[in-house]
Amino acid sequence: MQSRRNFLQHLGLGLSLPSLAAFTLPFSPSSPAFPSLELKEEDYWKEMKKQFPLGSSPIYLNTGTFGPAPYSVLNAMVESNLLINSSGEYGNSDQERIQLASFFGIKPTEFSITHNTTEGINIMAWGIPLKAGDEVILTTHEHAGNALPWLNRAKYNGIVLRTFEPKTTQEENLNEIQKLINSKTKVIAVPHVTCTTGLVLPIAEICNVAKSKGILTAIDGAHGAGAFDLDLYALGCDLYAGCFHKWMCGPSGTAFLFVKEESLERLIPIMIGGHSDTGWDMTTDPPTFAGYVPSARRFDYGTQSKTLAVGMVAATKFHTQIGKERIQTRLQTLNQYLLDGLLELNSKLDILTPLEKESRIALLTFRPKNMTYQVCGNELGKAGFRIRQVPEGKVNAIRVSTHVYNTKEEVDAFLVALNRILT
Ligand SMILES: Cc1ncc(COP(=O)(O)O)c(C=O)c1O
Repeated sequence: MQSRRNFLQHLGLGLSLPSLAAFTLPFSPSSPAFPSLELKEEDYWKEMKKQFPLGSSPIYLNTGTFGPAPYSVLNAMVESNLLINSSGEYGNSDQERIQLASFFGIKPTEFSITHNTTEGINIMAWGIPLKAGDEVILTTHEHAGNALPWLNRAKYNGIVLRTFEPKTTQEENLNEIQKLINSKTKVIAVPHVTCTTGLVLPIAEICNVAKSKGILTAIDGAHGAGAFDLDLYALGCDLYAGCFHKWMCGPSGTAFLFVKEESLERLIPIMIGGHSDTGWDMTTDPPTFAGYVPSARRFDYGTQSKTLAVGMVAATKFHTQIGKERIQTRLQTLNQYLLDGLLELNSKLDILTPLEKESRIALLTFRPKNMTYQVCGNELGKAGFRIRQVPEGKVNAIRVSTHVYNTKEEVDAFLVALNRILT
């Protein structure tokens, strides 16, 4: 009884709710102690790994696909799920939306909770009013999640997709985009970071150019949140689809769409449901629909998972506890460390990720010279490393991603194994 009372108090609830009376706590809601700030830099990150249910094998180098969640996120979700399923109060995520928006320094009315980046991209691709012949700029290196929604819109509505092959500097990539802009250009829908080589595009500069020409920016931000100390207002984009299941280390199946206040009415909500509206009545003749809520909340619909929203908030707390800036710096440091190691192996591989610092963040992609990327990828798998093979954009390469749970020791072990495989 004592533990149940503690748990309910821990959740900020009294015991007076009758539906909670029979609740028994079946687990201990605790997470490992956070690494001390007194620790030396590398020791701090070694300790950080203990926050995650990650073992020593395989060595996880694939956050670009999926970022495992720390215990604090998992425990928050277990608590929330137990509470919801014992009380029957599944609630809504209005409170969480406020906290999530605040993490990105934006208004809650600009934050729509989605299930993955692709959902946010579909909301943008179908919601922007476009007619046949209107042009959208993308790269040749898109992930399926940013390619297919636009290809689908092109198939049905005859919009024209204009692409460019990414170059290796921010200046060149801005140039490539400027070359494609003409009077028919209506949207720039490039990724913040490509899934292929981990190239970082100069989004703030791209948005600046787009704004001056009345072009909408609809950014695929799958790799933005949690990797950068992201400032969505400073980026200056109209729309940004991000996710929580990569660099945010949040629950899988969680994401968001940022809709800048001034862009809200430029996006038609194709899919809506309960709470998207300001009123409706099917008993009038004809039935009436008053309109949409004056918020990006209009893009959420139906029953949402409170547990996942609670997990998202826990992920923001995890990032805040370390410090967003410190995380970005660590990611850049590890990326440079790995790059330096790969450069030493450059007789055996081609590095495809740009060397320019601003064009990289936490992903590195290379192509082996003396074997196919599939053989190399499989050998790395057998040697105990979780990496990603990259067929997109015919890049045919190996991608390695490093996050807060990775250490320089792990990078060293990877380089030793890679050298052996390529020799
Ligand atoms: C650049 C990019 N865009 C979009 C996606 C799709 O993301 P999600 O699985 O969250 O829909 C990914 C996934 O890896 C990606 O790397």
